[in-house]
Amino acid sequence: MLDIKVIRTTTPKTKPREDEPLGFGRIFTDHMFIMNYTEGKGWHDARIVPFQNISLSPAAMVYHYGQEMFEGLKAYKAEDGRTLLFRPDMNAKRAINTNKRLCIPEIPVEDFVQAVKAVVKVDEDWIPKAPGTSLYIRPFIIATDEFLGVKPSSTYMFIIILSPSGAYYESGLDPVGIWIEDEYVRAVKGGIGEAKTGGNYAASLAAQVKAHDEGYSQVLWLDGVERKYIEEVGAMNIFFKIDGVVVTPALNGSILPGVTRDSVIQLCKSWGLPVEERKISIDEIYEAQKSGKLEEVWGTGTAAVISPVGKLRWKNEVMIIQDGGIGELSQKLYDTITGIQLGKIEDIYNWTVEVK
Ligand code: COI
Repeated sequence: MLDIKVIRTTTPKTKPREDEPLGFGRIFTDHMFIMNYTEGKGWHDARIVPFQNISLSPAAMVYHYGQEMFEGLKAYKAEDGRTLLFRPDMNAKRAINTNKRLCIPEIPVEDFVQAVKAVVKVDEDWIPKAPGTSLYIRPFIIATDEFLGVKPSSTYMFIIILSPSGAYYESGLDPVGIWIEDEYVRAVKGGIGEAKTGGNYAASLAAQVKAHDEGYSQVLWLDGVERKYIEEVGAMNIFFKIDGVVVTPALNGSILPGVTRDSVIQLCKSWGLPVEERKISIDEIYEAQKSGKLEEVWGTGTAAVISPVGKLRWKNEVMIIQDGGIGELSQKLYDTITGIQLGKIEDIYNWTVEVK
C-alpha cells in the first residue's frame, strides 16, 4: 500500500466546456501522480502534485536508449455519479510484463491501481460527460540515470497524467480505412512487440506516414518474418468475422495483448459466437473478401474502443467491407463495452472498478 502525499494546485485551470470538441490527448488535468525509484531503496515518494513540466538531465537514459514503458486506460462518469475504471488490474499486470522485458523495476498490481485511483479521485471533476468522451489515463515510466552507457538505469520515475478526451479517430465510430503494410515490419517474436513501450510506436511512424499519404488512417502490420500473417494495427488489435466465425490473430509474442481484445473475445463467446485465436494469412482475408465471406472487420483498443474498418488496401487491391458501413457486431460490441464502462449495462464480469 502506497503512502501518497497530495499537494493540490492553487491555480486550477479552466476546464473544457461540455460542448467543446476535446480531440484525443491534447488537454491535461490539474494534477499528476509521481513516484521515484532508486536502486537499493525501491519505489518511494509517491505523490500527487500540480501538473507540471519535469526536469531531467539531457543525459537521462530514456532520451538515448528508450528505456520506457506506458499504459493506457480510461475513467468514466456513470449516470448515477460513480467514477468507474475499466479493468485497471489488466493494465497493471501488462505493465509488469512490459517492465520485465525492458528491465524496469516492477510495480505491484495493487500499488499501480491505487495510484491510478488516487490521481483520478483528485481530478474527478475533469471527467467529461458528453457521449463518446472519457478521461484517458496515461501511466508511464522513464529511466532517469544520467549516463550514456547502455545498461538498465538504476533510477526511474513513474508518472500518471490524465487527459479528458473524445474519440481517438477524428471520424469517431465511422469506419476507418487501413493500409496493409508489406515493406516495413513492426515486431518479431523475441523482440518487444508484446511490450507497451514507445519504441514500438516510433518504429511504426514511417509506415503510418506512408499510409496517411495514401489516404488511410492506420497501418495493419504483417508478421516480420514471412510478411504473410496478420499481426495488429498500430493502436489496436484486429478482428475479422468470416462466414459467421470471429477470428483474431493469436498472441504469438509479437502482438500487444489488448484489454479490449480480451473483453471482445469474452463477449463474443458469451453471445454464442465461435471465436478463433489463430494465425490468419492476408491471402485468407483476400479470398474471404472475394468470395463474399468477409462479413466484418474491426479494431479494438483502449483509446479507440471498437473501430469498424470499412476499407483495406493490400498492394494494389482495395477491399471494401460492409459497403464501407458499420457492421452489426461491431456496433453491438461498441454499445455493450461502452454501456458497461458507463454503468448503463449490468457488469456481469466485474470489469468496472469504482473510484471512491
Ligand atoms: C491505447 O489504446 O490506450 C493506446 O495506448 C494506444 C495509443 C497509441 C493511443
